[in-house]
Amino acid sequence: MSTPTFVHRTVLLAEAVDALAIKPEGVYVDCTFGRGGHSRLILSRLGPNGRLVAFDKDPQAIAVAERLAAEDSRFSIVHNGFETLSGELDRLSVAQVDGVLMDLGVSSPQIDDGSRGFSFRFDAPLDMRMDTTRGITAAEWLATAEEADISEVIKTYGEERFARKIAAAIVAQRGEHPITTTRELAVLVGQNVRTREPGQDPATRTFQAIRIFVNRELDELKSVLPQAARRLAVGGRLAIISFHSLEDRIVKQYLRDVSSEEKLPQWAMVRAADMAKPPIVLAGKAIRAGAEEVRENPRARSAIMRVAERTAAPWREIDA
Ligand SMILES: C[S@@+](CC[C@H](N)C(=O)[O-])C[C@H]1O[C@@H](n2cnc3c(N)ncnc32)[C@H](O)[C@@H]1O
Repeated sequence: MSTPTFVHRTVLLAEAVDALAIKPEGVYVDCTFGRGGHSRLILSRLGPNGRLVAFDKDPQAIAVAERLAAEDSRFSIVHNGFETLSGELDRLSVAQVDGVLMDLGVSSPQIDDGSRGFSFRFDAPLDMRMDTTRGITAAEWLATAEEADISEVIKTYGEERFARKIAAAIVAQRGEHPITTTRELAVLVGQNVRTREPGQDPATRTFQAIRIFVNRELDELKSVLPQAARRLAVGGRLAIISFHSLEDRIVKQYLRDVSSEEKLPQWAMVRAADMAKPPIVLAGKAIRAGAEEVRENPRARSAIMRVAERTAAPWREIDA
């Protein structure tokens, strides 16, 4: 497959790979290969017996990763959603890992390649799937979904005040003809969002919401967090970069729950020293991109990375 030459500028490159504290003989997982910025730096720090398994849903990312896998036997790529982490690691006979990286959301090539239908900046078929080989497109979903569901998605995942109005307009318009392009949707949304935020297209929130829904982004994040944390060897690290508050809230909450002391009923007479220790501890404060990185790559502005480490305490299951 020929891969268009859109580039992705990796966010928090050194910070994220430093946070994994790479051991040369370790086994690592990059859940979001993209164009392999983080993966290549991880590989450069691994010795000949180290191993890196990467995931991506996007066939264009997979094409790049397959070329890397052909050159470097320490690297393997899985074309699947990262919520399949546990099953895929079993399949690859990987029991434990020394670090897991997630650089969430869409890559620049996905946004900049207008034909993918992620952006209202280009007129294109309304697709928005990261994995163009399966699932339903944004246009297919909008053609059949209940008005209440469309409204709920736009309100919840887009935090859009005019969600009900936008959903009603979508349903009215599709009664006349289906909404099949990014431009049609962007114009319709623009007509139904009454306020304007400086520097932001009125369609931004709705596009974000539909993208999150079509790709099940938050569900997959909730599913992968406990799988990743559970697979960590003692001392293993988890580094997660989020790009909006909905993602970061899930990450922050999960890490807080899994790293807090077990809550016992008040009547339980247990000495502090005998309390079960948490299986995960937070490793430092949340990290943001520095001013220079944000100047060179505006996408880094909203990035926030949280890092955690597996302790020797027995595993305790907590859902994200
Ligand atoms: C921000 S980019 C990662 C960029 C990468 N760190 C780099 O340096 O090139 C996110 C990538 O993760 C992929 N992705 C997002 N959610 C995913 C999921 N649930 N499962 C697998 N891949 C996913 C996207 O297709 C995209 O290629």
